[in-house]
Amino acid sequence: MQLVDLGVQYNALKKEIDTAIQQVIDEGTFIFGENLEKLEEEVADYCGVSYAVGLNSGTDALLFAIRNYGIGPEDEVITTPFTFIATAEVIALEHAKPVFVDIDPKTYNIDVSKIEEKITPKTKAIIPVHLYGQPADMDPILVIAKKHNLKVIEDAAQAIGAQYKGKNVTSIGDIGCLSFFPAKNLGAFGDAGMILTNDASIAEKMKMMRNHGSKKKYYHEFLGDSSRLDNLQAAILRVKLRHIDEWNEKRIQNAKRYSDLLGNSAFTTPFVLPDTKAVYQQYTIRTQHRDLVQHKLKDLGIPTAVHYPLPLHLQPVFQNMDYGYREGDFPESEKASKEVLSLPMYPELSNKDIETVANAIKDIIPK
Ligand SMILES: Cc1ncc(COP(=O)(O)O)c(C=O)c1O
Repeated sequence: MQLVDLGVQYNALKKEIDTAIQQVIDEGTFIFGENLEKLEEEVADYCGVSYAVGLNSGTDALLFAIRNYGIGPEDEVITTPFTFIATAEVIALEHAKPVFVDIDPKTYNIDVSKIEEKITPKTKAIIPVHLYGQPADMDPILVIAKKHNLKVIEDAAQAIGAQYKGKNVTSIGDIGCLSFFPAKNLGAFGDAGMILTNDASIAEKMKMMRNHGSKKKYYHEFLGDSSRLDNLQAAILRVKLRHIDEWNEKRIQNAKRYSDLLGNSAFTTPFVLPDTKAVYQQYTIRTQHRDLVQHKLKDLGIPTAVHYPLPLHLQPVFQNMDYGYREGDFPESEKASKEVLSLPMYPELSNKDIETVANAIKDIIPK
């Protein structure tokens, strides 16, 4: 059994994907080109956003969002410490301070009731993360952002296709960020990401930023970067995008199966906010015996993962900066990091495998 099986997805689409790759090679257009332009249109359309700009990675999407607003030294950006490092890393890379707000222990997303107390005159933006593919509670975040004149940058790296009150994630805040890392719900065959916005001027600036601050070849208006989503990845992603709803639906069904089987057990199954659609990039359960369960599952040949074992405020990289974060600052994140366990999850995961995993878990810690 695998945690994520990318091979089965490729095999199902092999003909279409191989043809798309061969076409790009035959055309010889690798950087910029029709596939990238079409992919940008198609993803923007899918997400219900006016503009999408393809980049090297989801990390660059977040970084460019921060740079777009000129966020830098002396500024603060609010986010969650229970996420992948990239979310906060980009804030620190621009010499601003990541100001963490603890999570809601039920959803693992930022606790909206604790945001306002962290706002200072230095606060410039909020980055909610739609962790595990579950939308953060966006309405209160938008209200707070409006009241304090803050930008909202959605980290939707794990959540393409997820919806909050009928709206696709990435279309709710000022800027949305996607990752097409291979294991994501929509994964490339390498690194890729995208930034989404309804603001034409931001899209224009992001297109220049990914290409050394240049609009016209060899003329550079500001310091940019080299961060293009290449045409080969775009061609692959276009084939896959046509299947994303079907794949997300299968993930939702798999999650339901897990939750039905584990519902009356010693384990906490994922809670989904009302009026949202979670797309289960991860199916993550919770138990105080996490390490024991993970260890025993491994012995049975069942792979699992911990997303994430150390909250960001306790990461050595941030401990080495003068932010002053200490153990105990964000108790819910610290507790979650010791208790969460992600089970095998991908669209093609069989019912039999789900049953095997669920039964093994229940045997390890009976109710
Ligand atoms: C929540 C979150 N933010 C940001 C990223 C960064 O995306 P990438 O790996 O494409 O740079 C990831 C993915 O790894 C992620 O899970």
